[in-house]
Amino acid sequence: MSLIDVKEIRKDFALFRDNPNLAYLDNSATSQKPDCVLDAVREFYEKENANPFRGIYDLSEKATAAYESARKTVASFLNAQSEKEIVFTRNASESLNLSAFSLGELMVGEGDEVVVSVSEHHSNMLPWRAMAERRHAKIRYLNCRPDGELRAEDLEKLMTDRTKIVAVTAMSNVFGKKNDLKALAAVAHKHNAILVADGAQSVPHGKTDVRETDADLLAFSGHKLLAPMGIGVLYGKKRLLDRMPPFLTGGEMIERVSTEEIVYSEAPHKFEAGTVNAGGAVGLARAIRYITDLGIENIEEREKELTEYALERLSRVPGITIVGSERAEDHNGIVTFRVQNVHPHDVSAILAENDIAVRAGHHCAEPLHRFIGIPSTTRASLMFYNTEEEIDRFVTAVSGIRGLMGY
Ligand SMILES: Cc1ncc(COP(=O)(O)O)c(C=O)c1O
Repeated sequence: MSLIDVKEIRKDFALFRDNPNLAYLDNSATSQKPDCVLDAVREFYEKENANPFRGIYDLSEKATAAYESARKTVASFLNAQSEKEIVFTRNASESLNLSAFSLGELMVGEGDEVVVSVSEHHSNMLPWRAMAERRHAKIRYLNCRPDGELRAEDLEKLMTDRTKIVAVTAMSNVFGKKNDLKALAAVAHKHNAILVADGAQSVPHGKTDVRETDADLLAFSGHKLLAPMGIGVLYGKKRLLDRMPPFLTGGEMIERVSTEEIVYSEAPHKFEAGTVNAGGAVGLARAIRYITDLGIENIEEREKELTEYALERLSRVPGITIVGSERAEDHNGIVTFRVQNVHPHDVSAILAENDIAVRAGHHCAEPLHRFIGIPSTTRASLMFYNTEEEIDRFVTAVSGIRGLMGY
């Protein structure tokens, strides 16, 4: 039994208090935000708002301190060596675009190879493809197993002496399967390649220890982790970040600049051009403290219980096919399914009529849907604050869909 008291926790969320009939099962798209996070952002703007790094007056120094303290909170959450390994961005997509652009400039030349898996979200595929096109490099695709797993032994077969980068998801947003990043990183490193991990789905749903997994870069978004939209993170090993050129250029990312020369700031600041999202960073730090207070292990346990509950009931409904494995431990809160003969948009619309929010389509993973030979699916994605009653309502509504559609 998990130690999380869901009834109590739901009181922390205005959206749940105001919408008692809503079953929000679209957490992989974005999470809801507890009051303490919204309060922290408001308090920052009420008490500490000035442009960080710019002013030599008290308020600007307070804003800088709040922003830099948030960086420390993120570093400690990921067990990074230091806060200098944490770059703030807008979201996982920007973190991955930064990685692809900058690593492309640094190390990819004509004829070099980048390995990307077929199961990537577009945000961890398109930046690499655009970079490969610019640098005249080649993309090689790593296939996933039927349960969604990316296996180190399959990666090994794709590696050549031209492979410079391996970009893989830490957890698929369609299967919910977590990958063994440590094993994948070991293969990449054996071939002197860099491993870039997309942690957008994994970081909110389990312990992340960057020293343990050994990925060189890891991206995630705050908004899937109870924080506001518009703040994201790129973790990077300091010695790699130091070598990487900036992605965006502009204010507050230089040591000095003249008409002849530019000397960039040290990492992470050289990657944070322009006015930063200090309020978002403060919100992210507060969200991390909320999660840490609950205990990430307790969150994992609670989400495992919910996933088992949902999978067990949904798979008993006639005409339902679950995408991926039958085992709850391979899903981590993500239950993607098809209803025989019914388009996912109809499934989602019928569920919406019952006040149940899920996602339908290809979930920004169109190549993966082509790979598994299914054009689109419906996805219910759970978070620790969901309840068994919500799942019951969801399963009951799904059970009625084929009848409603005349099957
Ligand atoms: C696996 C994965 N990677 C990347 C992203 C992109 O995140 P964002 O839209 O916050 O940049 C998502 C969003 O759904 C995702 O699920």
